[in-house]
Amino acid sequence: MTVTIVGSQLGDEGKGALVDLWGGDADIVVRYQGGDNAGHTVVEDGEEYKLSLVPSGAVRDKVGVLGNGCVINPRTLFSELDDLRERGLEPDVRLAKRAHVIMPYHRRLDNIEEEAKADSDLTVGTTGRGIGPTYEDKAGRRGIRVGDLLDPEVLRQRLEYVVPQKRAVIEDVYGLEAGEECDIEALVEEFTEFGRRLSEEDMVVNCGDFLAERRDAGENVMFEGAQGTLIDIDHGSYPYVTSSNPTAGGASTGTGLGPTVVGQGEVVGIVKAYLSRVGEGPMPTELKDDDRDEELADYIREKGGEFGTVTGRPRRIGWLDLPMLRHAARVSGFTGIAVNHLDVLAGLDEVKVGHAYELDGEERLTMPATTERWAECEPVLKEFETWPEVDWTEVAEEGYEALPDAAQDYLEYISDELDVPVYAVGIGPDREQTVHLENPFDK
Ligand code: IMP
Repeated sequence: MTVTIVGSQLGDEGKGALVDLWGGDADIVVRYQGGDNAGHTVVEDGEEYKLSLVPSGAVRDKVGVLGNGCVINPRTLFSELDDLRERGLEPDVRLAKRAHVIMPYHRRLDNIEEEAKADSDLTVGTTGRGIGPTYEDKAGRRGIRVGDLLDPEVLRQRLEYVVPQKRAVIEDVYGLEAGEECDIEALVEEFTEFGRRLSEEDMVVNCGDFLAERRDAGENVMFEGAQGTLIDIDHGSYPYVTSSNPTAGGASTGTGLGPTVVGQGEVVGIVKAYLSRVGEGPMPTELKDDDRDEELADYIREKGGEFGTVTGRPRRIGWLDLPMLRHAARVSGFTGIAVNHLDVLAGLDEVKVGHAYELDGEERLTMPATTERWAECEPVLKEFETWPEVDWTEVAEEGYEALPDAAQDYLEYISDELDVPVYAVGIGPDREQTVHLENPFDK
């Protein structure tokens, strides 16, 4: 059995909480794309864990795998592992030999390019973690892979080819000075040491084979997508996207298990009950038109804790966007959804959703393919009855029927529009604060 967890909006939908919840029935949790740009906050027994690279299942004694579709910064990896160990956990994390390594020059180039774009509308607002430049090198066939860290000669050979190019870009294209990120000797030394530690701790695997063997032995696999559909490099709002495929297809190419394996399982879209966005790009339902909107956005931002896990940046806030969700449900083939942060909308004077867009005087239910056309879309808003603050812990204990009627109507509307059932509703940050309807591993 496999369950794939996909962010259906712009990232930060609260995927970590569901991975953590249902991951209890998984034996292995695999991340299939992205790197330390992701931020999962997992709350377990009142303890908060902020992770950017280690799969959140590792907090619950699961085997956590970083698949070949990931880009891995070993500095971040070991710092998170050391931190978890200091807090008494024993995370079991494996890395695909085919995954690419984020090198210090990738981070530098990420930041340089963002700055270079600052004078135009092209700034992406990246997390500055070197994600884009690492995937560029992967596609350019000049990347460093995890397997290369295990052989100092191979590592040196690859660095001797690629580092002079990076130096030339930094110095000749951007007129800046290259620093220690381009010091081949220092890189060989530091990254060989990472390789030694990976081998010593038996952390490196041939991902597809490893997962296939565990599946043959009857184990359950959860594929954990990071980020969200609208920042997918193919299906998102290009160029305001990350450089990988958070959508469900990535679960196959990013792990080495076939699409039929992913497709035979459940694919659950995680939906935040409203919308947030870090970084640039259109957001038709953004709350920003007047003071009242801004006040509402401030309130939701504070209440929902809408500040970047990785960067601390305040997130932009908007109403739920149905054309976006319809797009996400089709791209990934959702079999169910979980709706998070429903409690954050409680007690408001108004609750709306963007039911459709108006573009060129016509109403449309899905998103246009270009970002420029998307930016021209005006939301067609639908107003909902509001629901009051209630004792959410009590609601979680009693179940779905204990949710206020108006909140149930809101959920049923989303479920009907996407034509998929709701498996869970998040009504607070703790794992306990979830209304369970169905565990996808029991399907
Ligand atoms: P990058 O992934 O750092 O290259 O950033 C590209 C875009 O994706 C930027 O708009 C980021 O803000 C956004 N992004 C990357 N990771 C996340 C995430 O985990 N949550 C939300 N947005 C993200």
